Amino acid sequence: QGQPAGTGGTPANADTILLGQVGALTGGQATFGISTRNGIELALKEANAAGGVKGKKLAVKVYDNQSKPEEAAQATTRLITQDKVVLILGDVASSNSLAMAEKAQAAGVPMITPSSTNTTVTQKGDYIFRVCFIDPFQGFVMAKFARDELKLGKVAVLQDNKSAYSIDLSDVFTRKFKEMGGMVATTESYSQGDTDYRAQLTAIKKTQPDGIYVPGYYSEVGVIARQAREVGLKVPLMGGDGWDSEKLFELGGSAITGSYFSNHYSPDNPDARVQKFIADYKATYGGVPDALAALGYDAARVAIEALQRAKDLSGPAVRDAIAQTKDFPGVAGTVTLDEKRNAVKSAVVLKVGDGKTQYVTTISP
Ligand code: PHE
Repeated sequence: QGQPAGTGGTPANADTILLGQVGALTGGQATFGISTRNGIELALKEANAAGGVKGKKLAVKVYDNQSKPEEAAQATTRLITQDKVVLILGDVASSNSLAMAEKAQAAGVPMITPSSTNTTVTQKGDYIFRVCFIDPFQGFVMAKFARDELKLGKVAVLQDNKSAYSIDLSDVFTRKFKEMGGMVATTESYSQGDTDYRAQLTAIKKTQPDGIYVPGYYSEVGVIARQAREVGLKVPLMGGDGWDSEKLFELGGSAITGSYFSNHYSPDNPDARVQKFIADYKATYGGVPDALAALGYDAARVAIEALQRAKDLSGPAVRDAIAQTKDFPGVAGTVTLDEKRNAVKSAVVLKVGDGKTQYVTTISP
């Protein structure tokens, strides 16, 4: 009846500590929520096998927000008032997390977003945390890569006007690219869910750019890549973490091959901890984990470790414990939370290959 449906988890009882997750399990960002859910599940399974927290088992209640901020807000309220969770994990897309953060902060329930990079998310208040870097850094990373490695002089930008993430990343990239001596010939825009981008791409083509920055989500980016080639644009496309989905290869086909995006983690990282996570994930879910899975896993493990340290399970106690997270060894980098409740980490640049990504370089703050 218009209510988000619970898709798993166990209700809270005396022997269980209940966490909540709000994620996109359907809609244009579906792979984001599903990967995150898998990562969280894996972390909980390991923690329970190791004895749980404060003598209790951990469980998670998951709600689908259908890739919509309104649904994300509603699901958050439900986790707080009905399920009475001790802490909330989610979401991925920043616009959804912004809607959630409003509710979590007002209720004094700690929230950790694994992967929302828009600066304003954690500015919603002292109960809101993230275990990933923020977009002012991510925009810098691709601007630097475009200038120093790809040696691009003139680029165009194509942004999603319905996404807080895309708008901000577009701004940051533009500012940084210009500071580094490059030129942004034009900035065009679309709305999430659009299917025809030919008018914008044709306008872009007229400016004869050396590359196009498309800080959007995979559902749209894949189609944009195909239509870019169709209108005769042969230059590389560049993007951010929102590209990270195995669906990108399917939607973009050969049109997206050879393009670059910034991300939180690379499955090619030889680090033993990362490779163990990948092997465990594959054994359970059957595919290579993407950055969302890695960050979902890290967010859940940061949460669990904080619950262990917290003097009790009240909102303020859990909040204070999370805030003290320091040098936590995640699979998507080490997590130390700064006074703005953000993690400061390096980013990787990945190249899109045939059905998989290829690690190119790491850029540090
Ligand atoms: N950073 C994106 C946002 O804030 C979400 C995202 C993270 C997407 C990682 C894919 C991978 O909207």
